[in-house]
Order: sequence, then structure tokens, then C-alpha cells
Amino acid sequence: MNHAHDTTHDSAPDTTADAGPLRVGIVGCGHISTQYLATLARLPELAVTAAADLDPARAQAVAAAHPGVRALGIADLLAADDVDVVLNLTVPAAHAEVALAAIAAGRDVYGEKPLAATTAEAARVVAAAEAAGVRLGCAPDTVLGSGLQTARRVLDDGLLGAPVAATATMLTPGHERWHPDPDFYYAPGGGPLLDMGPYYVSALVSLLGPVVSAVGAASHTRTSRTIGRGPRAGERVPVTTDTHVTGVLTHASGALSTLVMSFDAVATRGSSIEVHGERGSLVVPDPNHFDGDVLLHPLGGDGWQLVPVSAGYRAGGRGIGLLDLAERTRREPRASGRVGLHVLDVLESLLDSAARGRRVDVAGTCERPDPVPLRELHAAAPASAA
Ligand SMILES: NC(=O)c1ccc[n+]([C@@H]2O[C@H](COP(=O)([O-])OP(=O)(O)OC[C@H]3O[C@@H](n4cnc5c(N)ncnc54)[C@H](O)[C@@H]3O)[C@@H](O)[C@H]2O)c1
Repeated sequence: MNHAHDTTHDSAPDTTADAGPLRVGIVGCGHISTQYLATLARLPELAVTAAADLDPARAQAVAAAHPGVRALGIADLLAADDVDVVLNLTVPAAHAEVALAAIAAGRDVYGEKPLAATTAEAARVVAAAEAAGVRLGCAPDTVLGSGLQTARRVLDDGLLGAPVAATATMLTPGHERWHPDPDFYYAPGGGPLLDMGPYYVSALVSLLGPVVSAVGAASHTRTSRTIGRGPRAGERVPVTTDTHVTGVLTHASGALSTLVMSFDAVATRGSSIEVHGERGSLVVPDPNHFDGDVLLHPLGGDGWQLVPVSAGYRAGGRGIGLLDLAERTRREPRASGRVGLHVLDVLESLLDSAARGRRVDVAGTCERPDPVPLRELHAAAPASAA
């Protein structure tokens, strides 16, 4: 493989932070909080000061394992003097309620995806944050990592010419093989599109800009799934949502993205994402990870070339979106609530189209987030997870 280009950007943040770290209060101390705590521990710009959960024992366990963190009730955390930003790691059904309470308390908020359980709720969260003048960020922040950002730099540098199309492919046999409580993946609000789609559509919006319409089709192969692991192994879970979703998104630029998201397939050799332009084709790494190889095939070239890392946070982990929010004191965070709202709107529109059997216009839009210059973080990244 040849090297396509070899340029780097400086590593300075684009705005200066206030004196002292931004103080973080975590609400929701479940599975994914471990990855955030590992990332935040290596970022001097951020300091976790408090943790809360519906289950107080979970918050106490986080406090016991992390010096400087105290366990609080949820209301006390939102009111605490030493919490500037609430990191909302609760389950999707609670995202809006927790975000709205934090905004009402005057706190900045960064939360896991999706921004809310529905587009209508997500719009209320964005409006409340704007009215209160607080910053609102939303996962995924994998899109700020060196993989996606290097791919984006190829596009922004014009190496593909005008982008024409993209493909986004996520095919697995389903999460019930490894997840001990997979019920929510097979109920409305779950399925492959709402669970994994945020990574892919956030990446497509960063690469190709906002989406104006969606055409979808969807199916499911089985009416129940069998849990593979844990105390409920062998138990059957009803399937009440579609488990194979496919469709075409039309971007405002005119580019067309084809999505295939499935819990009904065994395996695939397709790229997670490819982008095709008039002068080249690009392989984009898995958008559920922060890094990975970017490959460029120029028109008339002699095959796929490895593109050197040229942009984004190196060695990223879940939480770099919060670092970005902390540093952009006078600008919207890149992994913003507005992007999170648009992504959810696109996903819902695709499902709506599949149900109605016709094209659906996407009502809202967002700005394409700013690119991330090459940034070095401080240590090795924790592993990504689904
Ligand atoms: N598990 C993963 O691998 C993974 C990966 C990426 C993103 N996510 C996202 O992270 C979020 C959390 O997922 P998880 O796997 O950590 O779930 P989890 O069930 O392990 O943890 C969620 C925690 O939130 C708490 N909680 C629920 N409602 C609450 C409320 N109203 N107030 C306070 N605490 C509340 C629960 O008690 C629980 O401890 C989800 O949005 C999910 O999509 C998860």
C-alpha cells in the first residue's frame, strides 16, 4: 500500500478553557460509565467530582473506586456547587428527563446516545438548553476520533472530488448471544437502526452533511430470540420490532447514502462505511471505534492506498466529546445536541418511511460539525464496545 498524503495539523485546542478543570457529575453508573471514567481519568481538563444513580449502590461503587468522586442523590448532584456539567449515562428512556432536570439546574449536559427516546423529546431538550444558555453535547464522539476525522480530511481536501454516494453496513446475528438482558433490543425503540444507527448516521452527517429525506424498508425473520448467556440463558425474548432495516438517505448536498443495519445476518465482508466521489473511493473505519485504517482508491490509481492519520483525537475513548465541549467555550460542541437531534430525526424518518412505504422528508437539519485538527491525548485508549 502507498501513502496517499502526509500532512498534519497542529495540536492546539481551538478555544481556551477557563482556569481549572470542568467539574463533571455522572448520572447513571452502569456498564458504559466504566469507559467514560477511564477516559476522563487521563484528561486534566476534566475532573469527575460526583456520581449518582437510581441504584445508590452503583454510585457508591464508583465513588469508592475513584478518589475525588463522592456519591450523591440525583437531586443533590444536580444542585452541587462542584458540578459544572452533567454526564448523562442513563438508559435511553431516561435521557430527556435527566437532561431537562440538569438544564433546569443551570448545568451544561453531555449525554449518551440517543439524545432522547423520540425526536419530539429531543427537540424539547435542545430548546430548553438554548433557552437556558447552557451547552448541550451528545454521543457518539467516536466521530471525533482519528479514523473518521482522517477520512473527513480526505473529503475536505477534495481528494474524492464531489461526493456522490456512501454505503453504511452493519450486519450481525444479534445481541442476545452475549447480552444477559437483551429485551430492549427487540422492542420498539430498539432494533439495529436505533441501537447502532447513531454511529453510522453521525459519521455520514460529519462526512457528507445533513440529510433531507429518507426511503426505508424493513423486515424481521423471527418472532422471538433465545438468550445465549447469563442467568436467563435459554429464555425466549419476543421480537416486536424490525430487525433488518435498509434504506437510502438523500443529503442536502445531493449525495445518496445507502444503509443496511441488521440483527438477522451472520457476517459481512463489506466495509463499515465507504464514500464514493467522482475522482476516488474511500474506505472509512468502523464508526463505533475511534481509530482504524482509512483507505483511498484514486481514479486511475493502482489500488487502495493507506491514508496516514492527519486529523482527529488520537487514542480517543468515550468522553472526548465532553473534552471538546469543555474547550469550545464560545462555540457549539462538535458532538452537539443539535447533531444528536438531527441524527435521531433521520433514524425515525427512515423507520417511518419503511412503515408507510413512501419517502419521508426529514423536518429538521443541523450544521455539519467543524472538523477536528490532529490532537494527541495522554495515554492508550480503553477498548470500544458496542
Ligand atoms: N453498553 C454499551 O456497550 C454501550 C455502548 C455505547 C453506548 N451505550 C449507551 O449508554 C447508555 C447507558 O447504557 P449502559 O449499557 O451503561 O446501561 P446500564 O443499564 O448498564 O446503565 C444505566 C444506568 O442508569 C441508571 N439509571 C436509569 N435511569 C436513571 C435515572 N432516571 N436517573 C439516574 N440513573 C438512572 C441505571 O440504574 C443504570 O445503573 C445508553 O444510552 C446506551 O445506548 C452503551
